[in-house]
Amino acid sequence: MAFRIYVDGRITDARDAMVPVLDRGFLYGDGVYEVTRTAGGRPVDLEPHLDRLARSADRIGLALPPRDAMIAAIDATLADAGNPESYLRVIVTRGAGEMGLDPALADAPRLVVIVRPLALPAPALYVDGSSLRLVSVKRNSPGALDPAIKSGNYLNNILGLAEARRAGAAEAVMCDDQGRVCEGSSSNVWCVRGGVVATPPLHVGLLPGITRWRLLQLARADGVAVEEVELYPADLHAADELFITSSIRGVLPISRLDDRSLPVGPVTTRLVALYERFLADQAGRVAT
Ligand SMILES: Cc1ncc(COP(=O)(O)O)c(C=O)c1O
Repeated sequence: MAFRIYVDGRITDARDAMVPVLDRGFLYGDGVYEVTRTAGGRPVDLEPHLDRLARSADRIGLALPPRDAMIAAIDATLADAGNPESYLRVIVTRGAGEMGLDPALADAPRLVVIVRPLALPAPALYVDGSSLRLVSVKRNSPGALDPAIKSGNYLNNILGLAEARRAGAAEAVMCDDQGRVCEGSSSNVWCVRGGVVATPPLHVGLLPGITRWRLLQLARADGVAVEEVELYPADLHAADELFITSSIRGVLPISRLDDRSLPVGPVTTRLVALYERFLADQAGRVAT
C-alpha cells in the first residue's frame, strides 16, 4: 500500500513531493482538479472526469497538458503505487511565475497526480446512514465563482463544512442566496419523496457530479423515477429519504438532517446497491 505523487514528471513518496511556493495553485487556488477512485485498479469514469477537468480549465482560461500525457502520468502513478484500489486526484495549476493576479504572469501549467490507498467511509454508514447540516454559509453564486468549475479554490466549501462539523454533522448542505438547495461541501444532495428521487438541477449552481450523472443514468435504466428539480430546505426536512453522492462515497444514505432523524429507506438502499453493482461491473470488466 503506497501513497505516491507525480509532480513535473517525477513520482515520489508523498512526503518528498514538492511544488514551488510561487505556484499559483498554492498562492491563489488558481488551478483545476478531479478526484475519483479505482475499481479493479482502473480509475472509475476517467473519461467523464477528464472531460469535466477540460470544461473547468476552459472556464478559467487554462490550457491543460495533452490528455494522453495526463493519462500516461495517471497510469504511471497508479502502477508505481501498486495499491489494490486507490484514491486518485489529478490537479493542474496555472503554474508559477512573477507574483500577481494577472494569469498572463504564469509560466506553464503544472500537473500533479496524487495516488493513495483507497479509504472508504465505514461500511456501517451505508446501512445506518450519515448526517447532514443545513448551514448558513451560501454556495458561491454562479455569477461570482461558478460551482460548476472544480477549481482549487475551496474556501466556500471549507467554511460550509466547518459550520456543519461544529454542529456535529458529517457533511454540510449549502443553499444559494435565494434559499434553494445547491449541494454539499464535497457531494451532491438527493431526496426521495413518494418514491420519486429528486436532486437540484444544474442551473441552481452546483458541481455537475460525475456520480450524480452516473446515478441518474443507472436509476432511470433500472426504472426508478428521478427528477432534477429545485429543492428548498423544507423539502429536505419533509423528505422520506435522503442521501448524498460523490466519487469516493458512492451513494451514501443520510439518517439525520439537523435535529431530525429519518430511516434509511428502500429507494436509497436500492440505489446504493445499483451503484455498487456498477463499481463491481467496472472491476470485472478490467479483470476479464
Ligand atoms: C462541491 C462538490 N459537489 C459535488 C461533488 C461530487 O462530485 P463527484 O460525484 O464528481 O465526485 C464534489 C466532489 O468532490 C464536490 O466537491
